[in-house]
Amino acid sequence: MAAPLTVPGDKSIAHRALMLAALAEGESVLRNLPSGLDVRSTQRVLDGLGVAFRDADGVLIVTGGGGALRSPAAPLDCGNSGTTIRLMTGMLATRAVDVILDGDASLRSRPMRRVAEPLESFGAEIALSAAGTAPVRVRGNPAAPAAGVAIRVASAQVKSAALLAALGAHGTSRVHGAIATRDHTERLLRAFGVACTADGDALLVDGPARLRATEVDVPGDMSSAAFLLAAAAAVPGARVAVDDVGLNPTRTAFLDVLRRFGAQVEVAPLDATAAEPRGQITVRGAPLRAIEVEPDDVPGLIDELPLVGVLGAFARGTTTVRGAAELRVKESDRIATFAAAARALGVEVETFDDGFAVRGPARFRSGAVVTAGDHRIAMAFSVAGRAAGVDVRLDDPDCMAVSFPGFFGALDAVA
Ligand code: S3P
Repeated sequence: MAAPLTVPGDKSIAHRALMLAALAEGESVLRNLPSGLDVRSTQRVLDGLGVAFRDADGVLIVTGGGGALRSPAAPLDCGNSGTTIRLMTGMLATRAVDVILDGDASLRSRPMRRVAEPLESFGAEIALSAAGTAPVRVRGNPAAPAAGVAIRVASAQVKSAALLAALGAHGTSRVHGAIATRDHTERLLRAFGVACTADGDALLVDGPARLRATEVDVPGDMSSAAFLLAAAAAVPGARVAVDDVGLNPTRTAFLDVLRRFGAQVEVAPLDATAAEPRGQITVRGAPLRAIEVEPDDVPGLIDELPLVGVLGAFARGTTTVRGAAELRVKESDRIATFAAAARALGVEVETFDDGFAVRGPARFRSGAVVTAGDHRIAMAFSVAGRAAGVDVRLDDPDCMAVSFPGFFGALDAVA
């Protein structure tokens, strides 16, 4: 039986661990940070703000300045990373800094008002382009009063920006509204010694908070493992095991989706008591049947939806995804890029403003896929090509480096 595969450390956890370590007092030890470019963007931005890093045997030691940051002379480059620019805008909103955050062409096209507006309650000055995008200039308000912040978009990035801003505000801030999204910020705040408590449908954070340096061991990224699991699920008789994957319940909806498609999924938890649970996942492929993804399923599956579409092409019947308009503002317009790529491989797809429908099982043919520089589109269609036994030519295979360097090697190892 093939040895279990591993995937890079969880990107969402890694961004947050870096930022909280930067705000803490003293040395934090971060293990298993992913080497993908997105997390490096966060580290580069923190470096520009004066945070010191040291590499020791593959472990990163971060010396936090207890919230003291310097204003850099030049704009800081967030690369392709939406999590970097949105969380950083929140983190800086209540600090004594004047910073410009910028990024690549894709990042410059993504909406930032959703973050800037809620942060206004902290008295920060946040200037965007006329289109409401990066570059973002943040003039933070270190005298910020605590605020009640309503989250209107079900986005963990927006919720996290508000929580990070609350750390520097004076008094108890209350973050409420659409907060049923991945909860890594809440969990890591507790690991860094900050009380982040639930109060009915709100989160409470007291500021100014003193963060205690700590150790964080980052589990493998479920959203990267998902590609390898799907590659086995789509082929009856195939099997893959992925070791040490994060099993935070706000991130495991894709495992239920695999089961609903008809694949066999086994989960062996390693340490359910850790701040972030982790374990081994084994998937066996089977003939798949179509599923319907409802709007309520979307926040827990947001990064996996292109892959749901790909699996839909292998499943008997029509697989639909609705309530997912957020896909339009990811690294690419993932409804449009998904549909164009699927059609290029002979798959029948219908698109809606807020989702798509895929008819399966498709009669795949070889073809050229336009990734629009979007890592998840590139990986989803590499999985399709492999499972269907057709040749998929990607215009930009290198775009996978933001989250999963070495993806092709891992995909080749799926039995
Ligand atoms: C992320 C949240 C999600 C997700 C992104 C990472 C995070 O974005 O798509 O890849 O780390 O908070 P939204 O919160 O905007 O949905």
